[in-house]
Amino acid sequence: MEDDPAIFLNAASVGPMPRSAVEVAAEWSTMRARPHALPFERMVDAAATARAQFAALVGADADEIALMPNTTYGLNLAARALPMRPGTILTFDGEFPSCVYPFQALGSRGITLELIPRRDGLPDEDALVAAIARPDVVAVVLSWVQFATGYVADLARIGAVCRAHGVFFIVDGIQGCGVRPINLHALPIDIFASGAQKWQLSPWGTGFVYVRRELVQAIEPLDVGWACMKTSTDYTRLTDYDFDFFADARRFEVVTLAYQDFAVANASTALLLAHGVEAVAAHIGALGDRLVDWAGSRPDVRLVTPADRARRAGVVSFAAANLDAMAQRLVAAQVIHTVREGAIRLSPHAYNTTDEIDRVLRILDN
Ligand SMILES: Cc1ncc(COP(=O)(O)O)c(C=O)c1O
Repeated sequence: MEDDPAIFLNAASVGPMPRSAVEVAAEWSTMRARPHALPFERMVDAAATARAQFAALVGADADEIALMPNTTYGLNLAARALPMRPGTILTFDGEFPSCVYPFQALGSRGITLELIPRRDGLPDEDALVAAIARPDVVAVVLSWVQFATGYVADLARIGAVCRAHGVFFIVDGIQGCGVRPINLHALPIDIFASGAQKWQLSPWGTGFVYVRRELVQAIEPLDVGWACMKTSTDYTRLTDYDFDFFADARRFEVVTLAYQDFAVANASTALLLAHGVEAVAAHIGALGDRLVDWAGSRPDVRLVTPADRARRAGVVSFAAANLDAMAQRLVAAQVIHTVREGAIRLSPHAYNTTDEIDRVLRILDN
């Protein structure tokens, strides 16, 4: 973003595509103008690379990853395909609607969604954990990192309680994926969905869903298309109508993929993997520390995001007595941010510097 006077602190809304990704987009656009110049193998390879790289980002295997247009598709897969008996699904009040609507839609199956009330504005994990033990509870859905508060859920703790009670655990990963290390194989998570358009610095329309290996073949795809089937790789057999799903998570990919966008996402993901998610997390953690310390020094500012680094990722939100004036100063100084749920949300990424954060703090102090 050189030559741009803006300070971009808004990866929680949409991540800027790195130069390497923009170059791939241009190359594919050129090829796409002459589709015969685009070898079929490159399309297949773009999809396979996307599955493999997304898997590497989250500590999973490629055959547990299905490419999706975004987070909500993966959450819908969880809502509609997991074999849930009638009962209650739990989530936190304050979650992004993706964790709410797909599960509220299950009323005709006798499944209702219950919101666990906030405590001091943040998710109440103790209340959630206590509620999971109830016999009516069939699943828990929540975001790894909350979109407005930046609160990082303790996935290991919640997942362990879910597992102990035979309750499905579904996670919306979009606000943490790419900037916070995670090892899905070490966590009791059944389905983890993420869009790549934010912290993964990728095009809109790219994302993935991880389905725990034991569930890949145990759950029946409800959305069924030609691309779910083994025969989709063999164009000479399409009209055999051989109803035989892929054995791996590709069985949940329904339609022709956005190959070009996934090729672009591959460049962005490669960059993140090359830098290392741990290094990115350490960098944004240190930038967040500055914001947290500043908020602590101002009696008129209330930090919404937990101060504890273990409980925050890239999002740092704060409320202020004179929020509107502060937000206006940020806009005037071209500090790209958002206001969510009555708080200013700043979301720095790997490309932001301590100097930028200090400039922003001076603007906020003025
Ligand atoms: C927690 C969370 N989930 C989901 C989304 C978006 O969902 P999708 O990728 O399906 O558009 C957002 C952001 O807009 C979000 O913050």
